[in-house]
Amino acid sequence: MINAVGQAQSVLVLGGGSEIAGAILRALPAARLQRVVLAGRRSSVMEERAAELRGRGIADVETVDFDARDTASHGAIIDAAFDAGDIDIVLLAFGVLGDQEALESDPAAAVDLVTANYVGAVSVGLHVARRLRQQGHGRLVVLSSVAGDRARRANYIYGSSKAGLDAFAQGLGDALAGSGASVLVVRPGFVRTTMTQGMSEAPFATDADAVAAIVVAALAKGRETVYAPAVLRPVMAAIKALPRGVFRRLPG
Ligand SMILES: NC(=O)c1ccc[n+]([C@@H]2O[C@H](COP(=O)([O-])OP(=O)(O)OC[C@H]3O[C@@H](n4cnc5c(N)ncnc54)[C@H](OP(=O)(O)O)[C@@H]3O)[C@@H](O)[C@H]2O)c1
Repeated sequence: MINAVGQAQSVLVLGGGSEIAGAILRALPAARLQRVVLAGRRSSVMEERAAELRGRGIADVETVDFDARDTASHGAIIDAAFDAGDIDIVLLAFGVLGDQEALESDPAAAVDLVTANYVGAVSVGLHVARRLRQQGHGRLVVLSSVAGDRARRANYIYGSSKAGLDAFAQGLGDALAGSGASVLVVRPGFVRTTMTQGMSEAPFATDADAVAAIVVAALAKGRETVYAPAVLRPVMAAIKALPRGVFRRLPG
């Protein structure tokens, strides 16, 4: 259980290979961390992450098969993780960026992407909320994106999935109010990770460690929504206020 100074004992990562999730795990206070469950599609990245965590002296590190699109499997996966012991922090870190141009000409691939990013998150998020409510404590950290604040021509398929995810996560946070459990919605801008490798950087680009530091500080303060970096909050407020015709002419 999270102690008085915000140190977690147990973390479940959904999207166990995510670079941002890996940075958050490194940034969390290590003093009391005893159990980490990495749930994701089998990969060398996830196994390396598990080995790194064991190397840090975390006693109980487990990898679990999890595909966000396989919603029928989510209940059993979440129940198994919580049945083995309370979970203090759940990181919802899976996501696919995709290639907008390719997705526009391949509706089935677009559906696959939104199924992972949005449908999968709704499914697993509700199962997590059920267990957090039962245990009466715990934080669900949802990696949303500024892309969901206002969908851009250049990536509106991904952006729409993040808009849906973000709205869902905010509503879930409201639904959990008073239960002892809560939701932290994280809206990063462009983060230099595997997901964005080879892409031109957007303004205010940052790295996974900087996002992780913001997330850990936000958890300690009990925040419900955070931008990474923080400057993106006023920037996105201004962008959202732009008339459509002006917004449409923005580069990228
Ligand atoms: N990087 C950015 O600029 C940025 C900005 C804003 C928000 N975000 C969000 O932050 C989160 C983490 O991204 P990241 O930068 O850490 O990228 P990342 O390292 O590519 O991590 C994404 C993870 O999602 C997993 N994943 C994809 N589809 C999945 C599925 N169907 N089932 C289970 N896992 C699946 C990937 O696993 P596989 O290896 O199996 O594909 C990968 O481990 C994502 O939700 C992303 O949208 C990222």
